Amino acid sequence: MKKVITVLKGDGIGPEIVDEAIKVLGRIAEKYSHEFVYKYVDIGGCAIDKYGVPITDEGMEQCKNCDSVLLGAVGGPKWDNVDPSVRPEKALLAVRHELGLFANLRPTKLFPQLADASPLKQSIIGNGIDLLIVRELTGGIYFGKRNTAEENGEAFASDEMKYYAHEIERIGRVAFESAKKRRGKVSSVDKANVLDSSRLWRKIMHKLGEEYKDVEYEDVLVDNTAMQLIKNPSRFDVVVTENMFGDILSDEASMLTGSIGMMPSASLSEGTLGMYEPIHGSAPDIAGTDMANPLGTILSAAMMLRYSFDMANEADDIENAVNAVLDEGYRTADIMRDGMKKVGCREMGTLVTEKI
Ligand code: IPM
Ligand code: MN
Repeated sequence: MKKVITVLKGDGIGPEIVDEAIKVLGRIAEKYSHEFVYKYVDIGGCAIDKYGVPITDEGMEQCKNCDSVLLGAVGGPKWDNVDPSVRPEKALLAVRHELGLFANLRPTKLFPQLADASPLKQSIIGNGIDLLIVRELTGGIYFGKRNTAEENGEAFASDEMKYYAHEIERIGRVAFESAKKRRGKVSSVDKANVLDSSRLWRKIMHKLGEEYKDVEYEDVLVDNTAMQLIKNPSRFDVVVTENMFGDILSDEASMLTGSIGMMPSASLSEGTLGMYEPIHGSAPDIAGTDMANPLGTILSAAMMLRYSFDMANEADDIENAVNAVLDEGYRTADIMRDGMKKVGCREMGTLVTEKI
């Protein structure tokens, strides 16, 4: 099969980790006689430096007209003080919005080999951690009205958190459908004891809960969820929540897996077009040092094959290869422990490639 992939390497460690994912995809293409065509587009700080905007109109068009998008990471201290309208993150939000990527899947899985890299005690990890965070990605406070102004001589700023019923329903369906293919439980996370947007969220989730009778359902308040993730992570299967809660909780959950460097994500639209990226940032402090962990990006490429290209065997191959390399004791710096074999970003990519 021939597939066109738009590649957004971005800033910091973005280019290094994406190169390793492409190395792995190259091996998959060879093994299964696929043709992957890569179209490179600048995004984030590097695009600001070149064009004065974090993504150009042509770049955005390229993202819309392909089979899927693979992203590294954007941003860095160099662009912290640029005008908010052209910040690197702005481009990421624009791509999510323009491509209609409303469903962000963040699987949080502890590879058993990394149990000692997780800060949680073995007694809490128990039989393992395997949950799926389903984050709403194109609504809520990220896309509400913003205002910075002055009132009676005093500065103020506000950000609106607004949800339409249809936005809640469609992300809810993604969660319930995912739960059916997993352990059959949905935990819907909100702040319905305070926020109107959460009360609407809960009402719609309850309706879906009645429709999906075979799926167990619970409401959990967001603050309590933050606690439960540490206290009893195995109670969760699918966690569905609004945009900002999902952003925060997924960083927290990533630590259960030992390192944020391990976590992939998929951002899906109503069709097959999706964007795939590790959940971590651009880590400018280690950029160019070959220290980054490429596994989150490599596992994101596996999600791309599974969700956008319907290539389940190919995706399994990548995931099994990652597993095998961890089994053999290879570790990047972030997951390094005594007695393991420390490797850099490039070598990790090569090891995974060779296992396929
Ligand atoms: C993420 C990131 C982004 C977000 C930033 C870079 C805008 O933190 O993908 O989780 O907040 O969504
Ligand atoms: Mn985040």
